[in-house]
Amino acid sequence: MGRMVPAMGACAVHGEFEAELLPGRKPICLKCSQERERERRMQERREMLLQGCGIPGRYRQAKFRDLLPVCEAQAAVIEAFKGWVAWVGRDRNAGNVVITGGPGTGKTHMASAATLNLIGHCGLGVRYVTADQMRTEICETWGRPGRSEHAELSRFASYPVLIIDEVEILDPNGHGLRYLNRVVDSRSAEGLPTVYISNQTKDGLRDMIGYRAVSRMYENALILQCSWEDYRDRRRAG
Ligand SMILES: Nc1ncnc2c1ncn2[C@@H]1O[C@H](COP(=O)(O)OP(=O)(O)O)[C@@H](O)[C@H]1O
Ligand SMILES: [Mg+2]
Ligand SMILES: [Zn+2]
Repeated sequence: MGRMVPAMGACAVHGEFEAELLPGRKPICLKCSQERERERRMQERREMLLQGCGIPGRYRQAKFRDLLPVCEAQAAVIEAFKGWVAWVGRDRNAGNVVITGGPGTGKTHMASAATLNLIGHCGLGVRYVTADQMRTEICETWGRPGRSEHAELSRFASYPVLIIDEVEILDPNGHGLRYLNRVVDSRSAEGLPTVYISNQTKDGLRDMIGYRAVSRMYENALILQCSWEDYRDRRRAG
């Protein structure tokens, strides 16, 4: 074993530094290696989050800027939602978002762009899920060793940001409705930001999931209405 000797080094970024090293070795800036290590861990985390974020394959590259202008209302909705995304990236108290509108108005596209954005830029633990997929994931635990309904519910209750899409597709009297209510309740109690997306109006949602859950979904919420036409009709019309 050689003896460590003190030496001076110079880093282009961090300036001069002292190091202890084996004779003949080049001094390495500790700050630089710490930064590289931090960046490597962040990158690992982003990749892990991307793998588990739940966005469907065809939206894996979705960006806000892919959305072509449709009308002024759409531009306003996109701006407001992007504003919320930037806010929640800095501050977990950004509150909920409720996005309603007919099919093909870009709701899932926007949700996917937001998810990718928050993971890529902030390393934030965002999960996208449809209401029905959430029910499936929770039900799948039945009879599986080491997994429980309770644990799965806690998982959905604790994602730093949760986006629940297709809130209209629920088994009316079954587990889906109960699970959704539980998740809405817990996230509201914890003040965790949640995005609810549906093709139903507020009244329609109340009929489906009840007055109480809907008032929690809408509390402190940015409400965005996508009231324009199905983009796919436009594309077909050429
Ligand atoms: N303004 C737009 N510009 C370009 N593509 C769009 C626009 N709005 C929607 N799309 C595309 O149309 C398809 C349907 O959009 P989607 O987000 O799934 O709608 P929704 O979830 O509201 O039913 C997707 O492939 C999406 O990328
Ligand atoms: Mg959709
Ligand atoms: Zn350095």
